[in-house]
Amino acid sequence: MLFYVVLFSTAISAGFINAQNPDSPGLKNLAIKHNLLIGGATDLNHDDSNEEQLIINEFSILSNENCLKPNKTQPSRNVFDFRQSDYFVGFCKKNNIVAKGHKLIARDFYLPKWMLDPGLTDKELHDILVDHIKNVMGRYRQGSEYGEIKYWDVLNEVISDAKIYESVFKRLGKNSDGDYNYWELAFRTARAVDPNCVLIWTEDNIEFDYPKADKLYETIKRLKSKGVPIDAVGFQCHIGFNGQPVPDFTKLADYFRKFADLGLYIAITELDVSEKLNQVEIYKNMMQVCLDQPKCISWSTWNVVDKYSWRRNLKDAETPLLFDDNYQPKSTYYGVQEILKKPNINSKNRILPHY
Ligand code: XIL
Repeated sequence: MLFYVVLFSTAISAGFINAQNPDSPGLKNLAIKHNLLIGGATDLNHDDSNEEQLIINEFSILSNENCLKPNKTQPSRNVFDFRQSDYFVGFCKKNNIVAKGHKLIARDFYLPKWMLDPGLTDKELHDILVDHIKNVMGRYRQGSEYGEIKYWDVLNEVISDAKIYESVFKRLGKNSDGDYNYWELAFRTARAVDPNCVLIWTEDNIEFDYPKADKLYETIKRLKSKGVPIDAVGFQCHIGFNGQPVPDFTKLADYFRKFADLGLYIAITELDVSEKLNQVEIYKNMMQVCLDQPKCISWSTWNVVDKYSWRRNLKDAETPLLFDDNYQPKSTYYGVQEILKKPNINSKNRILPHY
């Protein structure tokens, strides 16, 4: 009887989505035929079972949105707050979804105020970076009772020297190649905490800002030649954000190839597309360019349903995602589905990194 009740209630909650979308085999099932992970981003803080059910039906990877950023995980020195992230990682574990962590070290905007205190010595700052990674990553390392984070954005938005990308960790100086010491320190510390985690360096705008992409490429090349453990490069892809240009997809494929030739995986980490652009075509191209590159292993939107999009909150875009305010798949969804349904010769060479 209990078995029957459980089955029945599961069918009802799953039915909410499937009834509206009877033909949908779920993006994750299509993507896995290409050995590709597909997902979105949310802290799961909306107390919204429809959003959760949608994620379970459609996605194989999920990033947190804010709850694992340094300003959330370590709001005061040596005081850690894992309440929301435990829920997030636990949800992924329970539902067999790969949890992706965002982000260990970032620019000042995402750091707690206390980390920016000019009174901290360089030695203290060094230890703060190491201890932060050890504590946050350590909580969800392989075998953790709280669940595992198998992909981590170790560095995010730190390659540019423009004012808005300021990072207090620059105070730790540069090496003889001119690379900031904290870049290497962050990756080496992360590798020591969890040797099997996929360590990602993710940046904004590199899908269209070629000098920035070149700088990242040269930097990662140099660091990797010294054995710095960088596994993947993340392209955020907030397309049309702030009126920025649509990427040239041929060039994007070239950049994917260049990074792949360095031995890196490629992850599309934060995709969303302004509805003022040719949204469906852009989504299709973004999936195609990923499938055409065997090293492209994960493809994720930033947020899940339009009503929770960060871009709606910023009034930059109203409907930038695959699902509308009522959890329904949109033309963007069907565009992505169309590309995933086609066989791709490259997919047999795509090998997901596993534990
Ligand atoms: C955004 C969140 O979505 C917002 O809720 C928050 O107020 C600001 O940060 N690039 C990133 C993400 O790396 O961390 C940002 O997330 C979106 C842009």
